[in-house]
Amino acid sequence: MFLTAVSERLRGRLRLAVSALLMLGAAGPALPQPTGEAHPALWPQAQSSGLIDPGTEAAVSALMAQMSVEEKVGQMIQADIASIKPEDLREVPLGSILAGGNSPPLGAGVRAGLPAWVATARAFRAVALEQRPGHVPIPLIFGIDAVHGNSRVVGATLFPHNVGLGAAHDPGLMARIGAATAQETAAAGIDWAFGPTLAVPQDERWGRAYEGYSSNPNLVSLYADAVVRGLQGEPGSGALVQHGHVAASAKHFLADGGTAGGVDQGDATIGEAELIRLHAPAYPVAIEAGAMTVMASFSSWQGIKNHANRSLLTGVLKERFGFQGFVVGDWNAHGQVPGCTNENCPAAINAGIDMVMTPDSWKGFYRNLLDQVRSGAVPMQRIDDAVRRILRVKMRLGLFDPARPWEGRAEAVGSPEHRQLAREAVRKSLVLLKNNGQVLPLKAGAHVLVAGAGADDIGMQCGGWTLSWQGTGNSNADFPGAHSLYAGLREALAAGGGSAELSADGRYTGRPDAAVVVFGETPYAEGWGDLKTLEFDSGDNRELALMRQLHAEGIPVVAVFLSGRPLWVNPAINAADAFVAAWLPGSEGEGVADLLIGDAAGQPRYPFTGRLGYAWPNTAAHAPAADSAAVLFPRGYGLASTATAKLARLGEDPGVRAARTNFSDYMVRGRPLPPWSLQLQSGGKTLPLAAAQTTASLDGALSIRAVDAAGTQEGGRQLSWSGTAPAAFAIAGPQLDMRMLANGDASLTLDIRVDQKPSAPAQLAVACGPGCGAALDLGPILRASPVGEWRTLKVKLSCFRNAGANVAQITEPLVLGTGGPLRLSLSTVQLSSDPAGAVCPAAAQPP
Ligand code: BGC
Ligand code: BGC
Repeated sequence: MFLTAVSERLRGRLRLAVSALLMLGAAGPALPQPTGEAHPALWPQAQSSGLIDPGTEAAVSALMAQMSVEEKVGQMIQADIASIKPEDLREVPLGSILAGGNSPPLGAGVRAGLPAWVATARAFRAVALEQRPGHVPIPLIFGIDAVHGNSRVVGATLFPHNVGLGAAHDPGLMARIGAATAQETAAAGIDWAFGPTLAVPQDERWGRAYEGYSSNPNLVSLYADAVVRGLQGEPGSGALVQHGHVAASAKHFLADGGTAGGVDQGDATIGEAELIRLHAPAYPVAIEAGAMTVMASFSSWQGIKNHANRSLLTGVLKERFGFQGFVVGDWNAHGQVPGCTNENCPAAINAGIDMVMTPDSWKGFYRNLLDQVRSGAVPMQRIDDAVRRILRVKMRLGLFDPARPWEGRAEAVGSPEHRQLAREAVRKSLVLLKNNGQVLPLKAGAHVLVAGAGADDIGMQCGGWTLSWQGTGNSNADFPGAHSLYAGLREALAAGGGSAELSADGRYTGRPDAAVVVFGETPYAEGWGDLKTLEFDSGDNRELALMRQLHAEGIPVVAVFLSGRPLWVNPAINAADAFVAAWLPGSEGEGVADLLIGDAAGQPRYPFTGRLGYAWPNTAAHAPAADSAAVLFPRGYGLASTATAKLARLGEDPGVRAARTNFSDYMVRGRPLPPWSLQLQSGGKTLPLAAAQTTASLDGALSIRAVDAAGTQEGGRQLSWSGTAPAAFAIAGPQLDMRMLANGDASLTLDIRVDQKPSAPAQLAVACGPGCGAALDLGPILRASPVGEWRTLKVKLSCFRNAGANVAQITEPLVLGTGGPLRLSLSTVQLSSDPAGAVCPAAAQPP
């Protein structure tokens, strides 16, 4: 151990020396080589505000003097409430817990109200603060993704996602939203919001583009200051939690929005100058506003994972930017550092991560880090520095004060004031892109048809990070106190003597004076939202057809586009008379009606003031940030309500062939979805099936035929193994990097029916050529399944990874095999983002 530590240090020095040599050797102005090594002297200087004061530092020192190494190491580790119980803290004295996007509060479901959250916070806190011999009671810090309001709590105010707030160009509004979010978070007993996101997205194909305010670093910087002050209060004002404030986390450091191709958790291949100019500016601003924590990014810079980049985390962030709070890692992101696993990563600690986010891997990480401190692989000095930062934040946040006057304040959650604020934010965030014939605003007395998939769907208007991680599976009943867009329009029209007719498919009873068609993206979060091209793909183009039809009938059409980003949507812009980019407006749909419905004379009640925070693309081929010729509407664009400009017809060629990124739906109701196809495998032979082929047989070992399932004729495929030779059924396609998915708790989900139980071992595998995949033992599950009954089987992707699969290179996301007789039917095979009910069978020999 000691030797490896020394040689690691030597290697580190060598690396430094080599890069210094490279720099010296370069002719002319020393342009740094792309090595992922930052040069702090090139970066702006800053200094944390409000964190250091002599009293706090002395108190931290006194506390640290009493702490054991175990307690110090424990402070640096954060577990997820889905994977730890309060009593576990007696055995492993952790410093922090978080609630992941799908993690339910104790004893409750994923969608829970305030009391369950408060009870959860109290249950964990109570154990951490117990008076026990040999234990120094230290309050936990409890974090959550309060990224558009405290959005995990049923009944909370849901603000527009950041893409919309950027369009408002209003830092004062942001400070108020920060403060309101903090109050609703503190009311839940939670101390820490994982925001603001300071990404400066350069390629809107990125599934997290909506978490960024703008592609313009200046706007992101203005907002960084406002939101941090809003969440935390003024730096140094003290007793923060007692005043309804929470700690902020500026994330994700650094260049999460600068990855090549907009790939989530990808690699920013840019030079240091661009890193400094585009992606860094908001961080010193957030630090000077007092940001207590910074979250490191999953992504890489020049091929080096940020979690292992000492030059960025320590050299730039802590030394050059003078950051005195603590750096938290992202969700098992350290496990992606070469040489690390989720349970083991001294490199991340040595690089400058102060607290690792180890949702389910906390126990192993704790043991390993303790070993590494004892062996010297992680210097004690590094531990002391990290613990000092963490305790400093806990003290400055007021966590050592048992008084928590905001905790449990139900009246703060979804309060009328907060909802008014969110409604104001909606009004300020909508951008009017077309208003031919001055269709908008509609007259208050009009009869309006309200149609489209998003018209009456609060979940859709809220997007990801809403009640659940992906924001999927929510119904209007999950949002007490909220308004769908339709509900808002109905109220505004009723107040003005008009009326609204809701019709999902656009059929109406009385001929409308105008139609509002609401459509757009359905909810997603993180890499689940990554796109191949910028073309808006609704799947069925139903709303486009409807708008064309209404237009042909002479009914003025207002398109309201819900999306997490600007997308190429020219056909819809052409089909509508007015086009409004509404982003993901959140729970207060009346804010949309405020703009769309005018007074009795059709004069605006509120003006459109929103301006694009990102350029809007005129081709689906590339991000407008990369190519000004690709811009339809530049950043800063947005029509006033009174504008008379008429938008001419746009070209309808997307400039690139449509490419769906279907990484998750392999077979739906018996049919493979492109680019995936079905195959039979046996004895080294592969029999590929054509997409529409319903029967086939390979050497009499395995045959397939269509069966009825899921209420659909031929909605499933029955597989029959004769037992004459080992054989497998596989779904095959292009190479898929499933690391993000495995890390994010995705599970392979099968609608399956056992028709005849196996008598030989049976395996479920993912594959990618020899020595690359891994198999799990499916025998026990199949034998325990009742014959002839459909059931849903969910298997965690991480189990394949842990069984040795190289999940970065999967080409067959499902292989089902056995050497004996077996008959079963499959209907749908897809990935699910919700880990509820997922199992992890034991590893097996590949089929
Ligand atoms: C995300 C972070 C988030 C964390 C906790 C990660 O996957 O990248 O933004 O704060 O999970 O939910
Ligand atoms: C969690 C999220 C987390 C994500 C990481 C999900 O299972 O619920 O909080 O951000 O995994 O990719």
